[in-house]
Amino acid sequence: MRSSRHCLKALREIVLAHDFDEHPDLATLARELGAIAHRDRGRLATELEPLRRTNRFERWQLGPRLASGASLLVMAWPANHATPIHDHAGLWGLELALLGALEVESWARDPHTGSLRQLGRDWLGPGDATWFDTGDPGLHRCRNLSRQETALTLHVYGGDLSEYFAYEQEAQGERWQMLPQRAAIAGRLPG
Ligand SMILES: [Fe+2]
Repeated sequence: MRSSRHCLKALREIVLAHDFDEHPDLATLARELGAIAHRDRGRLATELEPLRRTNRFERWQLGPRLASGASLLVMAWPANHATPIHDHAGLWGLELALLGALEVESWARDPHTGSLRQLGRDWLGPGDATWFDTGDPGLHRCRNLSRQETALTLHVYGGDLSEYFAYEQEAQGERWQMLPQRAAIAGRLPG
C-alpha cells in the first residue's frame, strides 16, 4: 500500500489508548472508532484499496500485536458473503463497519437443549458497530449487503480469536450442530 495510512493509524491509536480489563467500555470505543470511520470514509477507502479488490473473505491483523493481548483486525467481505452463525469463544468483542454495510442477525442458544433462535436483525453502515461483553454468548451471523462491492470491517477482540464455533442445523426441527472453526490470518497491515 503506497498511500499514507493516517486513518488506519488513528483507529489503532484509539484502540491503544483504551485500557482493556475484563469488561472494557465498548460503547465509548465504538463511538470513538465510529467517528473516524464516518468522517474519513473516503481516505479509509484509499488506504484499504488493495483489500477492496479481494474476491474471498479475509482477516488481516492491523499493526503489531497489542501488549494488552487484545486483537485488532480488518476483515474484507466479498459481495454477498455471509458467515455461518458463530460465537466468539467467550471473548468480549466489537465489530464495526468501515466501508459498505453488513446485516447482523443476533441469535440466542438454549444452554439445555442447544437449540438456537433468532433474536433480531440490524444493519451496520460505515461507523456503526455491534459489541458483546466477556462471557456474553455473542452469537451472530453477518452478511455483506452489497451484490457488487467488497465491505470492510474493523474488529477488536479481548484475545486471540483463532478458534470458535459455528452453528448449523441441517433441516428445520433437527438438532443444531456445533462445528469447530479455525480463523486464519491473511497477513498484517502496517498500522
Ligand atoms: Fe462475529
